[in-house]
Amino acid sequence: MQSIGEKFRVESKALGFVPTMGALHKGHLSLVKRSKNENDATVVSIYVNPVQFGPKEDFNQYPRDIEGDLNKLSASKVDIVFIPADNEMYPEGFSASVHAGHAGKILCGAIRPGHFDGVTTVVTKFFNIVMPARAYFGQKDFQQAVIIKKIAGELDFDMDVIVCPTIREDDGLAMSSRNSYLNPQERKAAPVLYKALKYGKNLINKGMADTARIKKEVETFIKSEPLAEIDYVEIVDHDNLDRMKTLNPTAVICLAVRIGSTRLIDNLII
Ligand code: PAJ
Repeated sequence: MQSIGEKFRVESKALGFVPTMGALHKGHLSLVKRSKNENDATVVSIYVNPVQFGPKEDFNQYPRDIEGDLNKLSASKVDIVFIPADNEMYPEGFSASVHAGHAGKILCGAIRPGHFDGVTTVVTKFFNIVMPARAYFGQKDFQQAVIIKKIAGELDFDMDVIVCPTIREDDGLAMSSRNSYLNPQERKAAPVLYKALKYGKNLINKGMADTARIKKEVETFIKSEPLAEIDYVEIVDHDNLDRMKTLNPTAVICLAVRIGSTRLIDNLII
């Protein structure tokens, strides 16, 4: 993979890169499409990265469907699929870590300690292996996208990090590989995340500017769904993820909600 990446650089051709953990859906494929439009060739990686899962998280259950993924990527005419093995990525004795810093300790990072360090470690490894001109991430994982953009700049990666819009089901639920965990009753409840975000945005459009009040209203909206348990609702600045007291134009509402035992996240830029 690295010699292919080098060849593209030497020939001044642009390689687009879409890192994934597989179980691909239309959200992933929208990133692939964008990369294909903007680059000479596109690489998709499929790797369920063990170091970004906590000890009690779903690493073992995480959906894996390499055959289905390869069919989808071949139908999307992807040029290269990169599927590294665990012992290549993390050989015995591996101890390096790229720290996500403060931005990795708030929001989802407060509930999933070490998660974002695991993400930044694997993503910077991938950037060094693939050496893309552009890498594509989804707004769905907003905190992840902000952190990766920041780290890529701070560590001088010679590439652009591009954030693409969230792709949703018809009822508004953001597509996610983890949606497959939901039973039919939970699946019916899950659109409450997006409905609550739209409800919050509507309050803002009507002139509400006190973020504590907006937050409370959104929480009450989510609590009307009996299967939903809130992890957090926050209104933050989309550049640095800092909590916002009074609303300004760079606001994004971020939320994490458990539906049964499945944790879902979503966000809306105001
Ligand atoms: P994964 O969850 O497989 O997501 C891969 C990419 O697809 C991420 O950039 C994610 O934000 C994007 N994505 C997921 N659902 C989306 C949707 N509904 N609309 C648009 N984009 C969507 O995120 C990861 O994997 C991992 O943390 C990874 C970056 C690969 C590092 O291991």
